[in-house]
Amino acid sequence: MSESTIESGLQEKRVFYPSAEFSSQAQVKSLDEYQQLYDRAQADPQTFWAELAEQELHWFQPWHTVLDWQPPFAQWFVGGQTNVSYNCLDRHLTTWRRNKAALIWEGEPGDSRTLTYAQLHREVCQFANALKQLGVGKGDVVGIYMPMIPEAAIAMLACARIGAPHSVVFGGFSAEAVRDRLADGKAKLVVTADGGWRKDAIVPLKTQVDRAIADGAVPTVENVLVVRRTGQDIDMQPGRDHWWHDLQPTVSADCPAEPMDSEDVLFVLYTSGSTGKPKGVVHTTAGYNLYAHMTTKWIFDLQDTDVYWCTADVGWITGHSYIVYGPLSNGATSVMYEGAPRPSNPGCFWDVVEKYGVTIFYTAPTAIRAFIKMGSDLPQARDLSSLRLLGTVGEPINPEAWMWYHTVIGKERCPIVDTWWQTETGGVMITPLPGATPTKPGSATRPLPGILADVVDLDGNSVPDNEGGYLVVRHPWPGMMRTVYGDPDRFRRTYWEHIPPKDGRYLYFAGDGARRDEDGYFWVMGRVDDVINVAGHRLGTMEIESALVSHPAVAEAAVVGRPDEVKGNEIVAFVTLESDQEPTEELAKALKKHVGQEIGAIARPGDIRFSDALPKTRSGKIMRRLLRSIASGQEVSGDTSTLEDRSVLDKLRGGA
Ligand code: PRX
Repeated sequence: MSESTIESGLQEKRVFYPSAEFSSQAQVKSLDEYQQLYDRAQADPQTFWAELAEQELHWFQPWHTVLDWQPPFAQWFVGGQTNVSYNCLDRHLTTWRRNKAALIWEGEPGDSRTLTYAQLHREVCQFANALKQLGVGKGDVVGIYMPMIPEAAIAMLACARIGAPHSVVFGGFSAEAVRDRLADGKAKLVVTADGGWRKDAIVPLKTQVDRAIADGAVPTVENVLVVRRTGQDIDMQPGRDHWWHDLQPTVSADCPAEPMDSEDVLFVLYTSGSTGKPKGVVHTTAGYNLYAHMTTKWIFDLQDTDVYWCTADVGWITGHSYIVYGPLSNGATSVMYEGAPRPSNPGCFWDVVEKYGVTIFYTAPTAIRAFIKMGSDLPQARDLSSLRLLGTVGEPINPEAWMWYHTVIGKERCPIVDTWWQTETGGVMITPLPGATPTKPGSATRPLPGILADVVDLDGNSVPDNEGGYLVVRHPWPGMMRTVYGDPDRFRRTYWEHIPPKDGRYLYFAGDGARRDEDGYFWVMGRVDDVINVAGHRLGTMEIESALVSHPAVAEAAVVGRPDEVKGNEIVAFVTLESDQEPTEELAKALKKHVGQEIGAIARPGDIRFSDALPKTRSGKIMRRLLRSIASGQEVSGDTSTLEDRSVLDKLRGGA
């Protein structure tokens, strides 16, 4: 990669170009080629996507309408039938890929497993037959609460095979969070494991499921299918709970993929918003499949010899699209790792890269910042020469972290793709194409072909270059979410009416602030709503506040984010106590623990501040802007004239 400087008038002026060697073998070889694709897609999005759908996916039946757009509800490839599990497995079996590694799995205690496409297909068929035997049919929702083991992907693909939408719940969420999600989705069956390894300890997943569905809390759940992973004793309720290893030998490995309508639901995945409970983001079959497939191919520049590793958990959208569906649909080799860097094994990521000769590595800026802290010796002591392409996802990357990634991990040789997207978008929206796009540290660069991204004001008008605004998308795309599960009004309100529609023109509102520079590069600034991004995980302030006030000692709570060197943001909770309660260290600890139990460890506040009152407007709204300033130790600036009781501010500052 060569470095040069352009006069952009921005703070960050460095530009890095892909090497001629990389570009010459890439899927998209130059900026011109990207621009041509982009222009073609913009001129006629429907023909653009239709051609790709025909070339890249298998269809049981062709569609008759490419896009039916009844804003804000879109249907893609209407009338067509396909199956995501077929596209990810069966179609590779008649090619040389039959015996290629589909999944390479590295377990936390050091065990490992490789499944070829033929082997993965066989296990998926068996799992699908087991689900059927337990009464799961087309349209029945299956909850999946699993550690990072191959059976998590197998369960997802098995659901897709028989047309049962899955609802994966991240293994780090608490029993309460699992209950909410299973109940909202009306899950009929839950797939889980006895336990999972997380940072040298066992997470008792099955026990959490027992708690989640106890006392008829989720009456729709009829069966629980349990995979043995950690081997400790667990309760198995006769008639309801079934071991996978007992069922597997009894079921056939023959299970043809069910032809699914393009718009049949593939999965529901819950994500946090600024109001209320997490919402079930709904993705459907054909459009999602095509979008995950194409974006993986373009962005990761997949070649047949690649060993591709995305370090996310399958419990997040990144795991869905870029560990399971995107890579497998392309016939790639996808690495799955159960562990996480931790004090007892800080170099584990680099060991995995070395052990399997990983060529493409995709991780979160938080992980990169944590590695910087641990020192460059760890990666430098490993052979990382197999790497040819690096990626980041989940949060803005600061230029310092980008540069470290570029020099220490990429040895100034590997392009970096900073990919901006969301659970709702199904796949990446704004990103460099590694062989084509010059990169600037900290910018996700340009939208993909077919994605009409813009930065606008609240009237929906584009703002001038280098002025801040709201990130929006102006045209539907195949991977877009279709609705909020069971709540189409919330879908409309949250994403399409924030910027009022005008003359039939609807803009998708992402909830992020951004600016576009004079080269058309996007710089994503972060959330503009009450969502906090902690270590690349998305958390709603309201959820955490509800968890806090569910503790008997708490009268009121307000939660804000404070910038953090490693995690991007840290959660600070301002808490007023019931009159009979004393603010003590122990209580602060107990409240942190309580949030962990209510939501999961990722939502634990880093800091609890007790206060007699919270700053409110005369109409009773908590002034979070002020709390944010106080939490980060900044001067409270801006208008405070609407504050009801100004002395609250002084007390809070004094207490901080
Ligand atoms: O704020 C943006 C941030 O993560 C949010 C989406 O979170 P989630 O749905 O959990 O999906 C995360 C994985 C795709 C966005 O609204 N975000 C994601 N990627 C980036 C980012 N912010 C800046 N740069 C990125 N590359």
